[in-house]
Amino acid sequence: MAKGDIRIGVVGATGVVGETFQILLDQRAFPFSELRLFASEASRGLKRNVDGREFEVTSLKDGCFDGLDIVFFSSGDDISKEWAPKAVKAGAVAIDNSGAFRMDEGVILGVPECNADLFPKLKIGERPGARAQIIANPNCSTIQLVVALKPLADRYGLDFVRVSSYQSVSGAGKAGIEELLEQTKLAVEGEIPTKGATFPKPIAFDAIPQIGSFVTDGSADDGFCSEEIKIMKETRKILRLPDVRVSAFTVRIPTLNSHAETVWVTLKKPAASLLEIEAVLAEAEGVELFSRASRDYPTQAFASGADPVYVGRVHKDPNDETTWMMWVVSDNLRKGAALNGIQIAETMYGLKPAAEVR
Ligand SMILES: NC(=O)c1ccc[n+]([C@@H]2O[C@H](COP(=O)([O-])OP(=O)(O)OC[C@H]3O[C@@H](n4cnc5c(N)ncnc54)[C@H](OP(=O)(O)O)[C@@H]3O)[C@@H](O)[C@H]2O)c1
Repeated sequence: MAKGDIRIGVVGATGVVGETFQILLDQRAFPFSELRLFASEASRGLKRNVDGREFEVTSLKDGCFDGLDIVFFSSGDDISKEWAPKAVKAGAVAIDNSGAFRMDEGVILGVPECNADLFPKLKIGERPGARAQIIANPNCSTIQLVVALKPLADRYGLDFVRVSSYQSVSGAGKAGIEELLEQTKLAVEGEIPTKGATFPKPIAFDAIPQIGSFVTDGSADDGFCSEEIKIMKETRKILRLPDVRVSAFTVRIPTLNSHAETVWVTLKKPAASLLEIEAVLAEAEGVELFSRASRDYPTQAFASGADPVYVGRVHKDPNDETTWMMWVVSDNLRKGAALNGIQIAETMYGLKPAAEVR
């Protein structure tokens, strides 16, 4: 990809998603002419290297987005709520990783493999102008799920999706990784770790069936935690299938990075055979299939640092002709966050990346 004149900002540049953005800008040779890195006051003055150039981290202040075309946000809901509208006011497209705007009517919840037709078209060297807007990046567990479901929805129609997740600690940011490492060290030294600041229980050598807070309001969402509700609602919005039934159960496990999901997908029309459904998945954009014939399957460590959504262990549920089971794994910091954001930008500009990982 030739160098171009796209001026970008990354808010949350010192976090795990923000740092992944910077790695991807390099790896994909994203054609930026200007890069502004933002984090909290505490990180002001830190230096980061991107594309062989040194950039200094600054804090957010009025006017800080002036002249930028794209601003990637990865600093949490509160910062996005306050600052993403300011980026749009300054004439930029704000690609937001937080949950602040995802379900807002009129806000695109973007996954290029699923709904690129909704994205505005931008030209390198031209300001977004009237196309300046917030585009939301979905929740990490939702993104990998919809990339795997999209080809099945198109070919067979979707009736019911049941998903259970196995989510890594990096999904809770830098603090999540540190908490697992510290507690693991304590446990290995023979001590019993106590609850830390990030997870609701000690995470070392254990699984926690709660991600986010529980709904206890007696509504249809009662008993679910917020991560599960995100998956259920966002999947319907992205696939533009408001009536598809989606049921999610999310679990935090003590892996460092990448999320895995076991998925039961009930199709509207039966698939003829395993080979047929594997062929549909193998051809799908963004999916890498481990077929039955490969006698192998992807793992979370394998998916870490790579771009695709890996699908394996596809097999029919013997209890129901139209239900198939599969294992879906992807890097939550890449496709689940920064990579999806950069792909949204590339799609808007009609760009192809210089390189993809695996
Ligand atoms: N981790 C994932 O897998 C994942 C996936 C999808 C979406 N997301 C979303 O992405 C966002 C970032 O997540 P993360 O995992 O990267 O978290 P993280 O590692 O905790 O990083 C948070 C970032 O926000 C910055 N920040 C904090 N206060 C700020 C302020 N007042 N002004 C500007 N920046 C500020 C931090 O800067 P300092 O270092 O200076 O504190 C840091 O750069 C969250 O909205 C999260 O929900 C995360």
